[in-house]
Order: sequence, then C-alpha cells, then structure tokens
Amino acid sequence: MLNDLHEANRLSWNAATVAHNSHKGDQVAFFRNGGSTLYPEEIELLGDLAGLDLLHLQCNSGQDSLSLARLGANVTGVDISDEAIAFAKRLSAESGIAATFERADLLHWFDDARTRGLAFDRVFASYGTICWLSDLGLWARGIASVLKPGGRFAFIEFHPFAMVFDEKWAPRYDYAPREPVSEAGVGDYVAASGAGLAPDGYEQGVVDFRNPHPSFEFNWGIADVLQALIDAGLEIECLKEYPYANGWAGFDGMRDSGGGRMLPPKSMPSIPLMYAIAAAKPKKMGAMSAPASARPEAVIRPYRTEDRERLAAIWLSASRIGHPFLGEERLLAQLQMVRDTYLPMADNWVAEVDGRPAGFIGLIGNFIGGLFVNPEIHGAGIGRGLIEHAAARLGRLDVSVYADNPSAVDFYRRRGFVETGRQETDDEGLPFAVIHMARTP
Ligand SMILES: C[S@@+](CC[C@H](N)C(=O)[O-])C[C@H]1O[C@@H](n2cnc3c(N)ncnc32)[C@H](O)[C@@H]1O
Repeated sequence: MLNDLHEANRLSWNAATVAHNSHKGDQVAFFRNGGSTLYPEEIELLGDLAGLDLLHLQCNSGQDSLSLARLGANVTGVDISDEAIAFAKRLSAESGIAATFERADLLHWFDDARTRGLAFDRVFASYGTICWLSDLGLWARGIASVLKPGGRFAFIEFHPFAMVFDEKWAPRYDYAPREPVSEAGVGDYVAASGAGLAPDGYEQGVVDFRNPHPSFEFNWGIADVLQALIDAGLEIECLKEYPYANGWAGFDGMRDSGGGRMLPPKSMPSIPLMYAIAAAKPKKMGAMSAPASARPEAVIRPYRTEDRERLAAIWLSASRIGHPFLGEERLLAQLQMVRDTYLPMADNWVAEVDGRPAGFIGLIGNFIGGLFVNPEIHGAGIGRGLIEHAAARLGRLDVSVYADNPSAVDFYRRRGFVETGRQETDDEGLPFAVIHMARTP
C-alpha cells in the first residue's frame, strides 16, 4: 500500500518536474558559466567536500548535485522520478560536470546500494524530501548503512511547524500527522516562488500547471526525524532552526529578505521555517585517530575560481567563532560579499592540507583583507604559514582586527605586529572597535 503511494508520487513528480524546469531558463549555460544553486546554509553544514564521495538523496533534476560536484565531491544522486533523473543526466553531460544519477525509490535503493558495497563520506538531503517518504526508520537506517565510519549526514528541510498552516497562514493541518495527507498533485511551486527557485532568472514556461496525478505526503515532526536518526546509531552533532525559507515562497505575502531568504509578512511574528541537522556515523571502536600533536602538512598555492565556495564556507565557520558579536544575520549578509566581491577582487592564497583548502589569506596590496582557517584545524600553524608566505612576498603587512576578537589580536602580536591606530567603529560604521596593526620587515 505504501509502495503504491510512492508510485503515485513518482507519476506526480514526473509531471511537475517538466513544469518546474520550464521556468528555469538555459540551465546548461547557467552551469557552464559557473552557476551554483546551493545556499550558504547547506555549504556550511556540509563543510569541505573536496575528494569526498557524496550521496545526494532525492536529487530531483540534479541542479544541487552538480553544484556539489563543483565543490569537488564525487556525487551520486538518487531520485524516484524518471523525468528528473533523465534531465539530471542530460544536464551533467551537457554542462560537463561529472556526476552519477540513479532512478529508484530511495527506500528500495538503500538495499541495492548495500548489496553493491557502496559507501559514502557524506550523505545529503535538502528542501522537501522526507515528506515523500512513508517510513522514516528505513530512511535513517539506510543512511547509516551507506555512510562510511566517521562519515556525516547533512540534512536541511522545511520546518514541520510551518506545515500546520495553509497558504493563507490559517492553522489548518495537524502537526506531524500519523496518516498520509493526499493532495491534488505536486504543484508548480517554482512558478509561485519566481526567482527564488530559478537562480538564472525566472521564465514563464508552463502556465497554470495542473498536475493530473495526485500525490501523498508524510509530514514528519522534528522528534520523528531525530529519533529515527538516533535509533539508526547516528550521533547528532547539531540541530538548527531558521526563521526563513530558502527559495520557497509557499505562503501568502512572503518577502525575499535577500539572497532568496523568504520571510513571512512583516505583520507576523517570527516562526521557524527551516531546520538543519548534522549527524555522524561513529568510527569503529579501536579506530586510530591522529595524535593531537600531529601537525598537518600545508601547501600554499594561488587561489582558483573553483575554491570560492569552499573558502566561503571556511570564512563562515571561522567568523562564527571569531566574530559572534556581529550576529548571524550580519555574518550571512557578509558571506555574500565575501563570495561575490571580496574573493574575486583580492590577491588570495590558499593553504591546502591533504589536497583540500584549509585556510586562506586575501591581500589587497600590503593589507590583509582576510585570514581565515578552518576551525577544525585551528592551532596547527596554518595561519602562521599564510602570514609568513605573504610577508616573504610583500615585506610590510597591515591588518585591521576587531578589538572584540582578542585571540586574533593576540595572534598578530605574537607574529610581530604592533598597534598603529584604533577606531571606535568598523568600516560599515557599526559600533565595533577596530585595532589597526602593522609588521615591518
Ligand atoms: C522537492 S524535491 C527535492 C529537491 C532537491 N532538494 C533538489 O536538489 O532539487 C523532492 C524529490 O523527491 C523525489 N522523491 C519523492 N519520493 C521519492 C522516493 N520514494 N524515492 C526517491 N525519491 C523520491 C521526487 O521525485 C523529487 O525529485
């Protein structure tokens, strides 16, 4: 019976996927020109992907899968929709971004993957996935079974609390109902969300789409999801909630607060619209980990365009630790500036450990515009190496550091920088004191 509902959903998704893609313009050109459909939240959740085997669950037409492949992952995408998988394969071939796509009901695919001995460093699912799955225990156990020991599951999803409301924000549905909810069919939510879900510009495409195939949804609650993952033996590393929905304007009067973050109308109180979970598969007992004293070998090389998303992720995780006083909203706004303006404009040098970027320094003349190291390997000498590399090329170095970031001030002092001035506001005029420092040869 539940398999029948999945089959009904397959037909409904086949029809809807044609309508969705009709609004997204020339996607081959979008990817050939370096486009990405990922949001900062998932990039941050996933961390560095270079060289990792990544399984993308319910990948639909593969746009996010190809964006993940761009970050250096070997991506396998799985989806039940024939139309979506055929589209994903074409998009991969025509855009020249390699990835593997398989059509299957996910809850059957896990058994097949185990038989084939498939194993992944990362499993990823995002935005509108588990509401199509009839059995969350099978889902979580499947994820655990295909993760390598020490591998991680990264999950970002629309919040089940929001699903209590109808389109006009009237509370109408039970929270996490125990029975499947039948609908007229997967709708054309891309048309409803406009540019939010068509990052290369919205095209009219299919007008007034009516899905001839009904669909069936399973709206799992937060506790259902967490308990399923815990029962499957995964260790929950983080749970986050967000007061906005990325790309999806599913309710009346939603407004884009920037970068496709959709907020409810101003008249409404804040409510959670998305949540994210990171969970790890424990390493086997007795597995060796590197001794704490081991220093990773870093190689410093010039920046390449394809580093951009990984460096932006490093910037965000390091800034959250170094500059928490700026607040999450401001950090996420700055993240866009880092990706779109600062990285392309600065003279950047990247420290690589085991072939993956672990930190970078961005120089504007002699001025250090940014020095950021992956927090997971702070204290391993990466920052010091980048400073010495820049000093060897440029001689004098200048830097400005937030006074509220004492470990950064201390770091530069220990590297021979001295204070040359101080201002009470930062470059944006915000009331965060900044210390100017310099080191001369
Ligand atoms: C909202 S989309 C997810 C979009 C995704 N975030 C992406 O990267 O584009 C939901 C997807 O789940 C797929 N799906 C639904 N039921 C499924 C099942 N039982 N097994 C595998 N995929 C399924 C649909 O075909 C659809 O592509």
